[in-house]
Amino acid sequence: MDVTEAIAHLGPMFEAIAADGRQALEQLRLPAGAEVLDVGTGVGNFAVFLALQGFDVLTGEPETDTTRYARKDWATRASAAGVADRVRFEPFDASRMPFADARFAAVFFFGVLHHVDAADRERVFAEALRVVKPGGGVVFFEPTQETLAQIWTNDPDHPLPADPSACAGGAKVRETKLRGRRMDIYVYQPA
Ligand SMILES: C[S@@+](CC[C@H](N)C(=O)[O-])C[C@H]1O[C@@H](n2cnc3c(N)ncnc32)[C@H](O)[C@@H]1O
Repeated sequence: MDVTEAIAHLGPMFEAIAADGRQALEQLRLPAGAEVLDVGTGVGNFAVFLALQGFDVLTGEPETDTTRYARKDWATRASAAGVADRVRFEPFDASRMPFADARFAAVFFFGVLHHVDAADRERVFAEALRVVKPGGGVVFFEPTQETLAQIWTNDPDHPLPADPSACAGGAKVRETKLRGRRMDIYVYQPA
């Protein structure tokens, strides 16, 4: 199945998510079929997008997360998109990733950093840089003001977007900021 067919199964919002995802991937130019980490599974939109691009996707969120954005039925969406075999789930907290150094070609946070406790964000950024391969990248997608206004109509308590640049903690990274359709996109490549 390609992204166009998946949109028919997953709904129109998936089209905008895929457009934002493609912008980030153009910056990274990852090897075909590479293993990538999708932090913060949620309903699984970004994990499904990455799997549709042919990547081997590991996704996860904390076992202890009982908020409205966790423990969702991501597996049904992956099956609907025909990519259940390319998405694996493992629970983890991004501030203590249970993964070896330099394991993943890239690490993605789609709509996640603002849900992480502010005190943990620097640690999360450092962990993402630790588990990414040299030559890979770490990408944060945070809602634009327009997207946030839409989200607030359903969830008035939704947090403000995070600023990934403020969480880099002095790491030597090259930053590229992009404006997506739904999200502001922050791409970090180790310098
Ligand atoms: C709005 S959802 C993300 C949407 C999802 N990426 C998608 O594409 O459908 C926010 C996610 O962040 C996760 N999250 C919050 N704190 C986290 C942490 N410390 N480590 C990993 N995931 C976390 C939540 O469990 C939830 O899965």
